[in-house]
Amino acid sequence: MLKISDGDFKRIASFIKSKYGVDLSRKRTLVEGRLGNYLANNGFGSYGEYFDFAMRDPDGEMVALLNRLTTNYTFFMREKDHFSFYSDVIMPWIDRELGSRDLRVWCAGCSTGQEAYTLALLTLEYLGNDAGAWEHTLLASDISNHALDEAKLGIYAEKDLKELPAEWRRRYFSPYDGNNWAVGEKLRKCVAFRRLNLLDAFSFKQPFQAIFCRNVMIYFDTPTKDALVRKYYDALLPGGYLVIGHSESLSSCGHSFDYVKPSVYRKPPK
Ligand SMILES: C[S@@+](CC[C@H](N)C(=O)[O-])C[C@H]1O[C@@H](n2cnc3c(N)ncnc32)[C@H](O)[C@@H]1O
Repeated sequence: MLKISDGDFKRIASFIKSKYGVDLSRKRTLVEGRLGNYLANNGFGSYGEYFDFAMRDPDGEMVALLNRLTTNYTFFMREKDHFSFYSDVIMPWIDRELGSRDLRVWCAGCSTGQEAYTLALLTLEYLGNDAGAWEHTLLASDISNHALDEAKLGIYAEKDLKELPAEWRRRYFSPYDGNNWAVGEKLRKCVAFRRLNLLDAFSFKQPFQAIFCRNVMIYFDTPTKDALVRKYYDALLPGGYLVIGHSESLSSCGHSFDYVKPSVYRKPPK
């Protein structure tokens, strides 16, 4: 395995952190593990040489480099109780208290799509016959093109769907081949996938009712996380919810959210 020099590691880690927020400072082995073979197979003599090459092609090779370094691990119904909270608390709040027929929910850091499709499925289950009277497209975003391509493709292995009740699988997926299932049209239409760097300024025209950003900020350092949490606050409607990963907390951030329960926060209602 090609070893990375201290200088090359510092350069790559500090660039990735400043541009994308991902903190690799203690991930030297991960950087070598994810890039080493690629460099060797493509004739690069050092990580620095490859990094210079990627810098000259920011929309191509730099994105590919980032794709190799991000962790896209996810699965259907991951951290299940957030989904019950969505169906039992968030949807009824939007529907009955806000009286809205325009769903504004964002799945930020959606990776390969399982979380967004789960939210879309629960939305359709909640709306039932009223779905036609709603604008109910969810926004799902990620920095990784590779993850987004898989999300849009929407083909998942049978074992990935095992947490979904058989009835939902039948209703929202169709068999693709012996081992895989394809997301059905009804569900596909409910999710708009976009590439978005969470470190960039947001330019949403309307506020969200809920933002799911689960298992994304774990890769960010405190100042990056602080800044993002403030942007989420501003991007939410009063009373809107921010849902983060179970192993995450906002306790180290200066924020104005009300604490609802572990990993669920709410912008104070007006
Ligand atoms: C571990 S996955 C989490 C997927 C899903 N939210 C879940 O909880 O299962 C983290 C995702 O965050 C994305 N990510 C990391 N940094 C990002 C950034 N600066 N902007 C947008 N997405 C980012 C990664 O590409 C990755 O797909």
